[in-house]
Amino acid sequence: MISINIENICQKLSLKESFIDKCLKKIHSRNQGFYTDIDNNRPIKKINAFAKKVEKKYDHIVVLGIGGSALGTATLAKALGNKKSPKFYILDNIDPTFIKETEEQLNLRKTLFIVVTKSGSTVETNMLYFYFRKKIEEKKLKIKDHFTIVTSQKKGLLIDTAKKENIPTFEIPKNIGGRFSVLTPAALLPAKLIGINIEKLLTGARIIRNSFLSKNSKKNLPFLLASVQYALEQKGKNINIIMPYSNKLTALSLWYCQLIAESLGKNGKGITPIPALGASDQHSQLQLFQDGPKDKLIIFLEIENSKPTLVIPNPYPKNKELNFLKELTFNKLLKIEKSSTEKSLAKNNRPSITIKVDFLSEESMGELIMLFETSIAFLGEFYGINAYNQPGVEASKSLTKKALIK
Ligand code: PA5
Repeated sequence: MISINIENICQKLSLKESFIDKCLKKIHSRNQGFYTDIDNNRPIKKINAFAKKVEKKYDHIVVLGIGGSALGTATLAKALGNKKSPKFYILDNIDPTFIKETEEQLNLRKTLFIVVTKSGSTVETNMLYFYFRKKIEEKKLKIKDHFTIVTSQKKGLLIDTAKKENIPTFEIPKNIGGRFSVLTPAALLPAKLIGINIEKLLTGARIIRNSFLSKNSKKNLPFLLASVQYALEQKGKNINIIMPYSNKLTALSLWYCQLIAESLGKNGKGITPIPALGASDQHSQLQLFQDGPKDKLIIFLEIENSKPTLVIPNPYPKNKELNFLKELTFNKLLKIEKSSTEKSLAKNNRPSITIKVDFLSEESMGELIMLFETSIAFLGEFYGINAYNQPGVEASKSLTKKALIK
């Protein structure tokens, strides 16, 4: 379960029901599948069947993908991955040192590479694929036993050769963009293979999707979040600090930063996202948030019941100054630090909101993912832009290809 403490800010916004209705109609007219495809059970069945077939076959699983084809997987792995699963790596860059260092950790005979590319034509991903194909061939191993391809492509080099060579393939629906694809096989396949309960992720996502479809402004959590972000941005708070008080949620904040930046940064408009981490950043970026330009909204993410409970012992029980340590846990200390930071920001007129998660679980991660995706959908309509394309990213992709060909 998730909740947001935005009632106070929202009361001042006087949100109108007819406005939600208009926005929802516009969103539906864009025919995006990220909030409808979560009802489709077919890809889940296919993923489960594949996972059963390859159970215990691999010691290492490596995702080759970049941007939206990697960040969603990283989010799930960081928040929910368990130690018993095969060792898991994401190669989402072409830094040769990073590639070599990862390669050196792999037993190729027991490695499955998952190539994730919606377009099938992203240079970085394809070059990584070519590189590791060669490595597998050199070991005289079968390509089809060591690769799977996840793409929207129906034709083209990647999918054509996959079909010819019997490489298992999974589909990313055409109407779901990279950064919105975390609840498709793009991230659900690797998630399943490292032991994450993908059905429960979708259950959580559906809860917020239903809230997103509500025309009642008080019940529509994504609309409320987007309204606060937009209203504050219009007042000059054009930077959103994404600050979880949980290391497990650091990848989620990077994914959310991409979602905000790549979806909304268009036509001279947008919100600049900055990732931060509590309590660590209380000793770093907080100075700027607290005392720098008044252009920020701080979005805290807090887990109410974090696990495990870690008691802080008192090595000097006779020392009265340490009496406060009685029954203190790291869990409680983290909460006190967060609430003190929140109060000190408020004192300095720096707005913040807190998204609370009861427990970190598949359901709550599904809720968070859908909350952020659908609130971006509203923000796109508030700004009057298409949140689902990325002309800036495409321009750089296309220049890279031209530079390679000439
Ligand atoms: O969100 C997006 O569209 C991008 O970040 C893409 O995910 C990224 O460029 C990778 O593209 P592809 O999945 O086509 O390889």
